Amino acid sequence: MKRTLVAEAGKKVGESIKVCGWIKTYRSHGKIIFVDLRDISGVLQVVILPELPSEVLEIAKNMRTEWVVEIVGKINKRPGGTQNQNLTTGDIEMTAENISVLSEAKTIPFDINTDGYEVNEEMRLKYRYVDLRRERLKRNLIFKQEFLHFVRTFLKDRGFIEIDTPSLTKSTPEGARDFLVPSRLQPEKFYALPQSPQQYKQLLMVAGLEKYFQIAKCFRDEDPRADRQAEFTQMDLEMSFVQEKDVRDLIEELLIETVRVVAPDKKIQEIPFPVITYQEAMEKYGIDRPDLRKDKSDKDLLAFCWIVDFPFFEKDKEGEWTFTHNPFSAPKPEFIDDLLKKKNIEKILTTQYDIVLNGWEIGGGSIRSHTPEILEAVFEIIGYKKDRIKSSFGHMMEAFGYGTPPHGGIAWGVDRILSILLNENSIREVIAFPKTGDSRDLMMDTPSAVDSKQLEELHIKTVAPKKK
Ligand code: AMO
Repeated sequence: MKRTLVAEAGKKVGESIKVCGWIKTYRSHGKIIFVDLRDISGVLQVVILPELPSEVLEIAKNMRTEWVVEIVGKINKRPGGTQNQNLTTGDIEMTAENISVLSEAKTIPFDINTDGYEVNEEMRLKYRYVDLRRERLKRNLIFKQEFLHFVRTFLKDRGFIEIDTPSLTKSTPEGARDFLVPSRLQPEKFYALPQSPQQYKQLLMVAGLEKYFQIAKCFRDEDPRADRQAEFTQMDLEMSFVQEKDVRDLIEELLIETVRVVAPDKKIQEIPFPVITYQEAMEKYGIDRPDLRKDKSDKDLLAFCWIVDFPFFEKDKEGEWTFTHNPFSAPKPEFIDDLLKKKNIEKILTTQYDIVLNGWEIGGGSIRSHTPEILEAVFEIIGYKKDRIKSSFGHMMEAFGYGTPPHGGIAWGVDRILSILLNENSIREVIAFPKTGDSRDLMMDTPSAVDSKQLEELHIKTVAPKKK
């Protein structure tokens, strides 16, 4: 007999079907046993009556919650007054005819029939495969798929091409530390995991692909927080022959449409999104990602805004100039002359735009420098010597010498947007297998030590950290 999902059982009243899943609850009422069986589609009540053959009853008596079972039985309408409005299958039940145990289960480490916020998070992460059985987390993952599916279809319909780029790449100066990967074939050399696909997407513009996007994994060796993971997902996009407003308009339309389709309960406070300069934001709100919600108690209110006109450079701790966002950004056109002459550096504004939602920075992008001269001037201002520019960015300068369209783009923090749409306080709630605050995967027990032979092959010696 073919398996039926429990959500389909309502169409089979009067028939015998086979269902498979986990025992969510198990209640023995004298001689009758009630089992709630859970599969990916829902929960079905199964009644086990004493008239069953003794070997089936024996199995039924020994079963426990979270065991995986296969049950064949007849679907009936529930007697009047016993319907359960909380279940989609609440007006039917199955009367068991046969039961097989597919897998027994130890007592699970915590309750999964709650929303889970009350459970110690380290425990939840260590047993994430159990935690993910929770309705809330399952819903979050399915929502993520709906969200990404909508975004993909929208962009494809607008002529964007989804292109994947390498994970083993070269270090990009984007403000965070890189994760390094040693090369076995090129001793003493390292790849870096991408902090973002920034350079590749620009090179795709040089290649003439014109409209690129990617749902990209990005890696940054920084201390995770509620809105930050070492490994996270971006919706990354780049377009040729555009100006600031073209990218912002497209993204604004995409965000509005996505919310309308995948999160229809949410209300966007203001359309078009307010556009605020960095200076205005700092003066008025003291922060460059203001929470503009008029009513912060309303969980369904979305207040988007754009922040524009950021300073290109700021002084670092050592008093040297560094970029505020992205060295590949172009200055606003009226500052190109100052940038090339390296004067009034503190006044130069960049084409950078950030998109902010309810006080979270959910994305950022810019129009890029597409001539080698401007890019070189940026690196000179931040103190890079000619040979460092060549070794780090020679490939970009060279590429830009072969016919480069003006281009610009943006990247969203997918995990952040999802958290807000799902009313979650931490991005860990929308990631299937997140890491802890100190970037460990408690389930896999990683990072972990490796074989000395592996290190030898990689020409690597480790040095134990000094005791503090
Ligand atoms: P940026 O560094 O601003 O831009 O990143 C874009 C967006 O990604 C999200 N984000 C993160 N989310 C979770 N964990 C993290 N550690 C993390 N770091 C960033 C934020 C942020 O707004 N290449 C440029 C984009 C561009 O210019 O096109 C970039 O990566 O929501």
